[in-house]
Amino acid sequence: MKKGVMRPGHVQLRVLDMDAAVKHYTELMGLIEMDRDQQGRVYLKAWTEVDKYSVVLRPADEPGMDFMGFKCVSEEALDALRAGLVAFGCEVQDIPAGELQDCGRRVRFVAPTGHSFELFATKQQTGKWGVNNRNPEAWPRDLSGMKATRFDHCLLYGPNLLQTYELFRDVLGFDLAEQVLTPDGTRIAQFLSVSTKAHDVAFIEHPEPNKFHHASFYLDTWNDVLRAADLISMTDTSIDIGPTRHGLTHGQTIYFFDPSGNRNEVFAGGDYHYPDHEPVTWDAGELGKAIFYHDRVLNERFLTVLT
Ligand code: FE2
Repeated sequence: MKKGVMRPGHVQLRVLDMDAAVKHYTELMGLIEMDRDQQGRVYLKAWTEVDKYSVVLRPADEPGMDFMGFKCVSEEALDALRAGLVAFGCEVQDIPAGELQDCGRRVRFVAPTGHSFELFATKQQTGKWGVNNRNPEAWPRDLSGMKATRFDHCLLYGPNLLQTYELFRDVLGFDLAEQVLTPDGTRIAQFLSVSTKAHDVAFIEHPEPNKFHHASFYLDTWNDVLRAADLISMTDTSIDIGPTRHGLTHGQTIYFFDPSGNRNEVFAGGDYHYPDHEPVTWDAGELGKAIFYHDRVLNERFLTVLT
């Protein structure tokens, strides 16, 4: 049941070399630099997003994800969600408006997987970049690189998937769209949607808490994924795997690394989800095909390289 969480709003990633990171996310991936702050953080957006930014890069000594934020429909909904988090037993932290540039108050909590998430309802809206809302053209002509259209989801590794699912389902209103089960029925992967997307956040069972697998960005077509692969080669960017198709969600995908070692994905297509859809289930024995539909085997790096 919907609780007022609308969509992924932002992700804050740690990067080692800010100049190299900004070049990667703007020139290669096609995000647009929108702002910087006194902490040295850089704020970026993808062109179809209406809010001012969706990716925040923070200078740090090690890579990884600081937090992922979800935008809620209203400040009233945010209050109700905050109360739900407290009732569930989460410790919540209230972060005042303005800690992130042009963003309202945020409610931060740690999921049982160890990851920090936050909810917010207000962020400056700058509108889609390069097109306006009145008789809009199809796309802006001066986009760079892969021309990523939106920040789409994160895949995160950590323990306690079941409790994390209960939190996201009962408190935040997410649905289980897709899952991987072992023969004894233990869920080792869960793809959760708060929209009609195949996933807004996904988790894979892992003993170490708070590990980051990838942040993903949407492209329009399979041909754009192929073009992204060309750009990865042209720029000697470290590639993980692809272009290929996932079994899970059936998206067309390619994985690569930013200069700090954070994994990125760009993808196109994929399934859709409504609340009356039964979860799609993959058996753990079919995990190779579930992740990489064509190769049907997992590469070791995909499973083990986390930040
Ligand atoms: Fe993904």
